[in-house]
Amino acid sequence: MTLSLEDARAMKGDTSWFTHDRFGMFIHWGLYALGARHEWLKHNEEIPDDVYQKYFKHFDPDLYDPDVWAAAAEGAGMKYFVITTKHHEGFCLWDTALTDYKAPNTPAGRDLLRPMVDAFRAHNLRTGLYHSLIDWHHPDFVVDPSIGPLRNTTNKDELNAGRDQARYAAYLHAQVRELLTQYGKIDVMWFDFSYPPHKGHDDWQSDELLRIVRELQPHIILDDRLDIPYGWDIKTPEQFQPRGWVQVDGKPVVWEACQTFSGSWGYHRDESSWKSHEQLIQMLIDTVSKGGNLLLNVGPTGRGEFDVRALDRLHAMGAWMRRHNRSIYGCTAAPADYPTPQDCRLTYNAEKKRLYVHVFAWPFVHLHLDGLAGKVEYAQLLNDASEVKMVELPAWQATHETQNADTLVLELPVQKPDAVVPVIELFLK
Ligand code: GLC
Repeated sequence: MTLSLEDARAMKGDTSWFTHDRFGMFIHWGLYALGARHEWLKHNEEIPDDVYQKYFKHFDPDLYDPDVWAAAAEGAGMKYFVITTKHHEGFCLWDTALTDYKAPNTPAGRDLLRPMVDAFRAHNLRTGLYHSLIDWHHPDFVVDPSIGPLRNTTNKDELNAGRDQARYAAYLHAQVRELLTQYGKIDVMWFDFSYPPHKGHDDWQSDELLRIVRELQPHIILDDRLDIPYGWDIKTPEQFQPRGWVQVDGKPVVWEACQTFSGSWGYHRDESSWKSHEQLIQMLIDTVSKGGNLLLNVGPTGRGEFDVRALDRLHAMGAWMRRHNRSIYGCTAAPADYPTPQDCRLTYNAEKKRLYVHVFAWPFVHLHLDGLAGKVEYAQLLNDASEVKMVELPAWQATHETQNADTLVLELPVQKPDAVVPVIELFLK
């Protein structure tokens, strides 16, 4: 019995693991890795199909070992991954029966998705599939003036004469069916992206796509980019840090920020704006302090490897997470009645009644937490479990401070602890 659209619209994915695990790996990998200058290079440089074919012909990721990728993600403390099955260029990583524009037909010579899903599952990461709604290669994808390598052509009417967007939508739906029936349990479905008025829900037939997804994998977490106001489970800001918990109609929602190490999702050899270890760790903390998830992207090379700049940052995040992950996993924003101290972020584990103070700028001697006096049983530095004393200010100091009666004062070591971002764990009474 097929699922009705009405029922599909009412269904919600299982986000319980998602809001616990908090941290995932995005992977953007396709022919654009060979161009090595952004996954939008076909659009940016208006490259025609016949010229872009050189990347198809030379796509030979001979060093590809998804177990190495999965180990790097697990080592960084990531708990799920989302892979681009097909990006806007239209090239498919898996052995789809619906086009020849796929990895098995390149020198790679095989389905690249299956070993990846197997490896990440073996490393205890959940599976997410990114799938581009946009397709700059498919013969039925109607050329529009906004996006794509042909957007500036003067003969669009001639180009579009033989194109049938409904036929493309059928192809899109059929490929999603392949992905949601041939690769086991999928935890996240990440469609990207609508750009009305040029391409939106009618061009994807989004209602039917929603129905298919919900029918095939009812538990799946679905993102918000199908250009329909219903059916989504997560909001997906990207390339900026929201100021607070993301809301819809004034209500906080489940949200995931996707971000890059540098300025590109796909491998970019010459792009230099790579974030520091501290920026990346603070980004993760800041996101969780606002009730969100961080999906952090890696763009593997055309040889099939994570480049040294990405590995360096993954290792640094893993080193911090090894000692501090309990201030991330199972945590969310702190209760509003605990104001955030200057230069800090708070995360909160309600189940364990633990409050975590992430100190972005190490203060001299004291840290003041309003609203917490008398409410904390014990305090320690998370990196080495060394006690942090809760003190009363000596009178001669108190006279210089504007103290509230409910302010908790912590006495800190003068030197910053050995952690990129030190964390103080407060055991609440
Ligand atoms: C933007 C980019 C796209 C990338 C996506 C990730 O839509 O254009 O290339 O895949 O962000 O969220």
